[in-house]
Amino acid sequence: MKTNIIFLCAAAFCLAAIRRAPADFPSATLTAAVADSVDKETGLALDPNFIIVKAQCTGCHSPKLILQHRFTRDEWLSKIRWMQRNHKLWDLGESEKTVLDYLAKHYAPSQSAYSRREALRNVKWYKLED
Ligand code: HEC
Repeated sequence: MKTNIIFLCAAAFCLAAIRRAPADFPSATLTAAVADSVDKETGLALDPNFIIVKAQCTGCHSPKLILQHRFTRDEWLSKIRWMQRNHKLWDLGESEKTVLDYLAKHYAPSQSAYSRREALRNVKWYKLED
């Protein structure tokens, strides 16, 4: 009888441990990793608006044309107008705001286009001995 109770307690403890495991997973890190990730096919940043941008902006040219540029929201809008005037880009309708939100969030001038390390500061140079 006593052994049974000990066994039951042990089993319950194991079960609790197993069920706890996924909850202990660092979900914050996981969310951040997903938010920072890019779509493998296009290289564009992944977020809920990505799919609309992919549909509207990758039909005529490579997404690299987007990735290469950093513009403010207004500048992105004028690029869109420019493509509409000169390159047969259609009226984006309600998607226009979504596309602009996305571009201004991920491809704004403050974000560097290339992940290059920051320049060294306070470098102390010294002469090599002969
Ligand atoms: C109907 C076709 C078409 C669609 C759709 C399209 N573009 Fe373009 N886009 C062009 C053409 C054509 C060029 C000029 C390409 C070149 O110069 O080689 C261009 C050029 C660009 C450039 C480079 C601009 C520059 O100053 O050199 C960017 C950035 C760009 N597009 C972003 C977008 C974005 C963002 C979208 C989605 C809203 C989009 N494009 C959708 C046709 C399109």
